Amino acid sequence: MVAALAANAPADCRVQVYDGLGRLPIFNPDDEGERTPPEAARLIEIITRADGVIVSCPEYAHGVPGGMKNALDWLVSRDAAVGKPAMLVHASPRSLYARAALAEVMRTMSFALYEETALEITLLGKKPAEMEAILAEGANRQAMREAVQGFVGFIRSH
Ligand SMILES: Cc1cc2nc3c(=O)[nH]c(=O)nc-3n(C[C@H](O)[C@H](O)[C@H](O)COP(=O)(O)O)c2cc1C
Repeated sequence: MVAALAANAPADCRVQVYDGLGRLPIFNPDDEGERTPPEAARLIEIITRADGVIVSCPEYAHGVPGGMKNALDWLVSRDAAVGKPAMLVHASPRSLYARAALAEVMRTMSFALYEETALEITLLGKKPAEMEAILAEGANRQAMREAVQGFVGFIRSH
């Protein structure tokens, strides 16, 4: 879904996909003060440079997947997160627990959450080829473009 968002973003904005969740070590505050691991430093740098952050994640056992929460833990109390515009997009209509938890976590971390649109394109249970077809539908491409455009407006007014 994030790849499709990147492909359908309005021409004047660039959506960069972060693919390093699996390389991040588990955050441990006891290690703070030591050298920040390279992938964590890369994440912090990318978030710092970005005008805004788009998060799309599944729900596991009514919670936010550990890998996603671990990435957010690396950003707690960092300037990178504070006041940073953020938008959530969803690929499942039923992941309501994770959605609410993620919003709560990100608000607590002082992200500026864009609440106007909750872009939701249902990909639940679809095979990769079916997902591609759904994401290529005109209405969905337009919804993605409009969601990013709305988020850009939020970033500019922020
Ligand atoms: C271990 C596991 C637990 C899941 N728990 C939930 C859940 O509690 N609620 C839900 O709506 N979907 C649940 N799902 C479905 C996922 O949210 C998601 O829709 C599906 O895994 C596809 O996304 P993925 O390929 O990125 O994991 C679960 C999936 C897995 C693998």
